[in-house]
Amino acid sequence: MSCGVPIIADLDGPAYIRRIGTGPPAPPHNRMERDMNAVVSLADSARYARTIEASKAVRWDIDKDVIKGRRFDVTRKYLPDGLSLARELALSPAEMRFISQIQGRTYANVFGLVERFITAKLIDVSGQHALGDQNALEALVRFSDEEIKHQTLFRRIESMMGETMPAGYRFDVDPDAVARAVLAKSTWSVLVLTLHIELFVQLHYRQSIEPDSELSELFKDVFLFHWKDEAQHAVLDELELKRHDATLSPEDRARAIGDFIDLVVAVDSILQVQAKADAAYFAANCGRTMKHMEGDLVARHFLKAYRWQYIFSGAGHPRFQGIVKGMIGEVGMKRIEAALATLA
Ligand SMILES: [Fe+2]
Ligand SMILES: [Fe+2]
Repeated sequence: MSCGVPIIADLDGPAYIRRIGTGPPAPPHNRMERDMNAVVSLADSARYARTIEASKAVRWDIDKDVIKGRRFDVTRKYLPDGLSLARELALSPAEMRFISQIQGRTYANVFGLVERFITAKLIDVSGQHALGDQNALEALVRFSDEEIKHQTLFRRIESMMGETMPAGYRFDVDPDAVARAVLAKSTWSVLVLTLHIELFVQLHYRQSIEPDSELSELFKDVFLFHWKDEAQHAVLDELELKRHDATLSPEDRARAIGDFIDLVVAVDSILQVQAKADAAYFAANCGRTMKHMEGDLVARHFLKAYRWQYIFSGAGHPRFQGIVKGMIGEVGMKRIEAALATLA
């Protein structure tokens, strides 16, 4: 015997268990154990398992698979027209390209920002499976690991895009400060916002980035590889959201809808500040003096494009609508729609 704890051959379990704990087994109401042992059905466990397989199949490396020693080609667009909406403005091709590059850089920054709180929340909910379904635990640990990698990728490309653009671009939002504010809201609201983001990521890639043949190849590849992971993440968002939703009372859920609306309004306030900053950067670097009215028009258009990218394209996604309506019904959806209408 290597330690001073006696091994007693009785029916209370193996000796190594009794060495760890000298007291009786934890009662079933032990809060910590219960919180690490979420109930997952067999069908859901199989869904978690499938995301693990998909995650392994698409696993990629930032340098070897995505960047491959390349630089951003400043003669090409970064963000596609379908997202920048630049074709709605009466600008020269060079000016529209510059707008796509500014918005492409902001696109990388916004994902770096939101993925900070997404990772923190996913690490939090993955702990609820620590002593429970191990497929769920592994799927969510992989999810968090992938989001940390995405943040690294977005920081890399943000600085690489910066090398191709004039000085003066600003993105002054602190991801940790935003994450602290977001994580103070209810888990339901943060998971709904996360689902919304991960669904619009896929929509943006399939509908706008992939089909646009005029984009920087590197920019396109970054969001191809990002999309490959996000397809699994949206499945996991839905599983975690529904599992959490089932624990809420109607009153909890009504409060959580209010939290979600608060989060969307907070996102919009960030977009308003960034649209102004990006429009001013465009005006200062587009190579000509813009008339006052035209400057205002461009600034309004930046905000319109950002609201489309980060709020409306996701809110209108059929899968987002179906999942959220399934939880909050017609009345809850009307509350969200009324709040969104004030942003248009
Ligand atoms: Fe991501
Ligand atoms: Fe994700």
